[in-house]
Amino acid sequence: MKITIINGSPKGSKSATYKMLVPLFEVIKIKNYELNYIDLSTKKIKSCLGCFACWLKTPGRCVIKDDADKIWETTRYSDYIVFACPLYFDNLTGLMKNFLDRGNPMSLPKLERDENGEGVHLKRLKDDKNAKLIVISNAGFPELSHFEPLRLIYRRMARNMRSEIVGEIYLPQGPLLTSGAYELKIILEKYHLILKEAYCEIFELGKISFATQQKLEQPLIPVEMYYSMVNTRMEELEIN
Ligand SMILES: Cc1cc2nc3c(=O)[nH]c(=O)nc-3n(C[C@H](O)[C@H](O)[C@H](O)COP(=O)(O)O)c2cc1C
Repeated sequence: MKITIINGSPKGSKSATYKMLVPLFEVIKIKNYELNYIDLSTKKIKSCLGCFACWLKTPGRCVIKDDADKIWETTRYSDYIVFACPLYFDNLTGLMKNFLDRGNPMSLPKLERDENGEGVHLKRLKDDKNAKLIVISNAGFPELSHFEPLRLIYRRMARNMRSEIVGEIYLPQGPLLTSGAYELKIILEKYHLILKEAYCEIFELGKISFATQQKLEQPLIPVEMYYSMVNTRMEELEIN
């Protein structure tokens, strides 16, 4: 079993996104799966030029010579692709968006219809494994509602990739994961275990159980406490 993980945080291994991935690394190790971890913050990925050379002139190849083609190449034949990306302006980060756009060579230019009659491009690789998708995000605001646009974006991504989402994990109050506050130690250890449970369920049951999803969606600390914690900290730092 091959699992490709794409971390779209500009903070790479110092990110809250990475902290959410640590229990996944543990599960992958225990299960002896093959891990293909891509930290986009360490890669050179320019934005798509929109020239369509990857369809019309050099089919399957981008004219830009950087890391994007190579990374897409490594995602081939994965059983699962994990998109892990913090929320930026209610959306993906630029890093992740650039990477996704550069996946265009992986599809064919002809217009087809999906099962609902809506237009779609088929995949170039005939033996593509149609990797299942796991999506992960964290955000600075404390309410789950902030992820609504991203939920929709990930659904459309799955449709475009002719795939399905088997796990969605969204964490508001994300900066708590990297705050280093000693008072949060027990809360964060508990969250780590819930994440581990969720990842195990995805691989063993093909989905996150209702009970585990409910645990994942509990705020780490009460929302009002988070507001006052952040605002008090800003006042201490004399930041307006
Ligand atoms: C440019 C920028 C835009 C952001 N936009 C949002 C946002 O729209 N909603 C939100 O809740 N948090 C937003 N945040 C906060 C990040 O989601 C938050 O700091 C998160 O914990 C960063 O995750 P990371 O450590 O994995 O990179 C934004 C942060 C930055 C730098």
